[in-house]
Amino acid sequence: MKSITIIKPDDWHLHLRDGDLLEAVIFSSSHHFQRALVMPNLSPPITTVKMAEEYKNRICVANRSVLERIRPENINAFASFNPYMTLYLNSEMSSQELKRVSESPDVLAVKFYPAGATTNSTFGVSEFESYYRVFEQMEKLDIVLCVHGESINPEIDVFDREARFIEESFDPMTRRFPNLRVVFEHISTADAVNFVNDQNENVVASVTPQHLAYNRNNLLAGKLRPHKYCAPLLKKEADRSSLVHAVTADSNEKFFLGTDSAPHLIGEKESSCGCAGCFSAPYALAKYAEVFFAEGKLENLENFASLNGAKFYGLPINEEKLKLVQRNNIPKDFFMTEKGEKIVSFVHGETLDWQIVN
Ligand code: NCD
Ligand code: ZN
Repeated sequence: MKSITIIKPDDWHLHLRDGDLLEAVIFSSSHHFQRALVMPNLSPPITTVKMAEEYKNRICVANRSVLERIRPENINAFASFNPYMTLYLNSEMSSQELKRVSESPDVLAVKFYPAGATTNSTFGVSEFESYYRVFEQMEKLDIVLCVHGESINPEIDVFDREARFIEESFDPMTRRFPNLRVVFEHISTADAVNFVNDQNENVVASVTPQHLAYNRNNLLAGKLRPHKYCAPLLKKEADRSSLVHAVTADSNEKFFLGTDSAPHLIGEKESSCGCAGCFSAPYALAKYAEVFFAEGKLENLENFASLNGAKFYGLPINEEKLKLVQRNNIPKDFFMTEKGEKIVSFVHGETLDWQIVN
């Protein structure tokens, strides 16, 4: 049986939600990841360091209370899960708040959402350029900017929105602020891979398991699979293969793990007007391992999953390890909230090749 032991990974793009849903999904992350960067798109969004610290506290409390219930004998192994926080960029973001971000040990980045591009992003911004004042200050204070890079022009085809954003917004911005550290989140196209590779070391990208493991046929051909529906949409095979090539490359330092795990209740996914977001946290590492193995590059999984992101964020490398074995296993049909509401993962209906042992 093939197996691999790597430094325990971190998830640099994670939606944990709040309340019952947070309780239902937190162990899927704290079980496998040592740290995570938690996205701020709650309703209302997290816009201040104070709100972020309170949210962080709710996450840690939820993790502990779930562990007391399901792993009472082994709480300390998973209670050390450390969520780092982000603030939602908005027109009210003041210089004082940015100063607080730069001084906060808990808030690692500010997140830009184009208005209306995805779940809870109506609060976002329509003009990237209108934030140049903020970017200038972030560059000076060395605050990381995380970017959801999709055009929101309704005339642009949804499959072209990432490429269009690069051309119209991202490229001019990185020229103007070469020292701003930027994460191009959940990249989905060969255009994004090329863009990131062409930029200096301050521009990097996170990559999800769904964009590495699937193309748009897996979402749309023959039958519609709502649990594989996310923003940005899955793209063509050529895009997927460019992403795989980039993350598994021997010299890869610019691409790192960010699941973009984005749980929604089953009714919001299996719906006549369904939400974007893949619940990937519980099986993300299994899918990443599958992709790296298929490419003959399993030995590079650790760089992508456990080293590159920590280095970019200037954090120490984890001490713990995690072991994955290659064996067929059936993922759980669903996860559940206290009230009995279901959450279905993105691998529903599949047999997985890899499994975590811990
Ligand atoms: C995310 C969500 O549901 O919060 N959805 C998604 O499809 N990725 C929002 C986001 O990251 O775009
Ligand atoms: Zn996201």
